[in-house]
Amino acid sequence: SDQSAFETDVWTLTRFVIETGRQAKGATGELTQLINAMLTAIKAISSAVRKAGLAHLQGLAGAVNVTGDDVKKLDVLSNDLVINMLQASYSTCCMVSEENKELIVTPQEKRGKYVVCFDPLDGSSNIDCLASIGTIFAIYKRISEGEPTEKDALQQGNNIVCAGYALYGSATLVALSTGAGVNFFTLDPAVGEFILTERSVRIKPKGKIYSLNEGYAKYFHPSINEYLKHKKYPEDGSSPYGARYVGSMVSDIHRTIAYGGIFMYPANEKSPKGKLRLLYECNPIAFIIEQAGGLATTGTQRILDVQPESLHQRVPFVVGSPDDVNEYLSFVKKFS
Ligand code: AHG
Ligand code: MN
Ligand code: MN
Ligand code: MN
Repeated sequence: SDQSAFETDVWTLTRFVIETGRQAKGATGELTQLINAMLTAIKAISSAVRKAGLAHLQGLAGAVNVTGDDVKKLDVLSNDLVINMLQASYSTCCMVSEENKELIVTPQEKRGKYVVCFDPLDGSSNIDCLASIGTIFAIYKRISEGEPTEKDALQQGNNIVCAGYALYGSATLVALSTGAGVNFFTLDPAVGEFILTERSVRIKPKGKIYSLNEGYAKYFHPSINEYLKHKKYPEDGSSPYGARYVGSMVSDIHRTIAYGGIFMYPANEKSPKGKLRLLYECNPIAFIIEQAGGLATTGTQRILDVQPESLHQRVPFVVGSPDDVNEYLSFVKKFS
C-alpha cells in the first residue's frame, strides 16, 4: 500500500507503555503514570537543552555537588523538572539524584510504590561546547513499609523494574527497557511524541571501537594499558580498533549499542573506584546493555550483582559487546 507520509497508527512511547503496562499482571497503571511523567520531564529538558545558549542557561550554577562536580545551570533545571514531574505522578515514594546529597522523600500525600534513581543531566561538562548530553534513570519497587528509607534505593541492579536513557543528540531519543528487551523511540518535535523507531535492539557480539578517556593512562592498572595495546597493535593479525570518546556517557553508550564495541571508565590511581556512580549511571546502563545482549562488569563483578552501600558510590565500569568485554576480562586475569 502506498505509505502516506503521515502514519495514522504510530506506536508512540505513551501507547507502548500503556500496552506493556496493561500486560503486566496486577497492573494498576502506576508504572505507566511514572514513565509518562519521566517522558514529560525529558521533553522539557530537551527543549531547554536546545535553547540553553539563547536562554542564558549555559555556564555554572555556582555550586559543587556531593560527588565534587561543578553544577551547571542546566543540571539544576533538569533536576527540578524530574523531581517535580515524578512527584506529581503519585507513583514514587523516594528518589536519588546525582544533584541531591540525601534521599529525596516524596511528600506523604503524593506517595506511590516506586523508587527512581536518576542522573538528570549526564555529560554536563559538554553543555557549553554543544556536544550531546543525556538523562539516565532506573526504577525499582519500594521494599520498606511506612517511611521510605535509603534501603529502598540501595537495591541491586538485578531488581530494576524499568530503566532508560534520553540522548539529546542530533535527534532526541529515548532507549527504554522493562525487562523484555530494549526499544528506541525518537522524539517528533512537531508532535511532541516519542515514536517507536527500533524494536528489540541487539548489540553486535563484537565491535571495532574502544571508548575511554586515555588521558588517565598514566594512572591506569596495567590490565587496561595491556588491553589497549592489544587493540592498537594486535599481534594476532587482526586489525586495530578505532577510538571514539565523547565524554558524555549516554552518547558513548548509545554509539556502543548502535555500532558495537567497548566503553570503559576504569578505576585509576586518582579515582580508585572510577568516576561513574552505581545507582544512577552504572546500574541503569548495565540493565539496558544486558537487555540488548551485551555485558556490564566492574572488572571483577557483574554490575547488576553489586550490593550498593551508599547513594553516591562509584564503581569501575566496563560495558559493551560480549566478545569485547570478555576479551578485556581475559587481560584482567592475565595481569592482576
Ligand atoms: P555527569 O555530567 O552526569 O556528572 O556525568 C559525566 C560523566 C559521564 O557522562 C562521562 O562518561 C564521564 O563523566 C566523563 O568523565 P571524564 O571527563 O573524566 O572522562
Ligand atoms: Mn555531574
Ligand atoms: Mn552522569
Ligand atoms: Mn549528571
